[in-house]
Amino acid sequence: MIKLITPLQMLARLLIALQVILGLAIWFGYISVTQIHIALGSLFVLDVWIIALIALFALPRRMLPFITLIMGGIVMWFGVAQRTMMLGELHWAVRVVHLLLGLATMGLVEPLVKAVKQHEASKT
Ligand code: HEM
Ligand code: HEM
Repeated sequence: MIKLITPLQMLARLLIALQVILGLAIWFGYISVTQIHIALGSLFVLDVWIIALIALFALPRRMLPFITLIMGGIVMWFGVAQRTMMLGELHWAVRVVHLLLGLATMGLVEPLVKAVKQHEASKT
């Protein structure tokens, strides 16, 4: 399982980059890619969950893996729920929160993967 962490991290980086691009395309209304964005977003969350679960078992401290698990759920829920949230003048705030939640998730994944790799390296 531990060996999977690097490819899973690569996948997360690829997906986050795609999500930001697709998200901005939706935001500014260039093309309607919402369905693709939701599909890739779900894949991203699944990927984050697998990473968090591996970390949960690999690391001696469980707080960061746990927070990352919860965060994945929040991102997925918010992503879909935002479509009916505060529609009107203030909807831009909802969009910003959605974007920041996505970026913050990646901000958890990167140090988490690093911690797992360091922990494994220190064992041998
Ligand atoms: C993981 C990182 C993610 C990033 C960086 C991201 C970014 C964005 C951005 C910038 C927008 C455009 C703003 C807007 O129209 O609201 C957007 C829209 C949207 N995102 Fe994401 N997103 C992510 C994940 C997800 C996930 C996991 C889902 C759902 C499973 C999701 C569902 C949606 C939906 C439904 C919209 C369109 C909202 C609308 O109809 O106005 N996103 N995303
Ligand atoms: C929203 C997007 C992203 C955020 C918030 C983010 C955040 C971070 C953070 C906080 C670290 C430091 C980890 C640590 O030292 O504990 C890091 C490291 C790194 N990130 Fe990202 N990252 C993002 C996307 C990406 C993407 C798209 C790539 C590559 C295509 C990437 C490649 C790297 C690399 C190579 C490192 C160094 C890893 C190491 O020191 O072992 N990141 N990132």
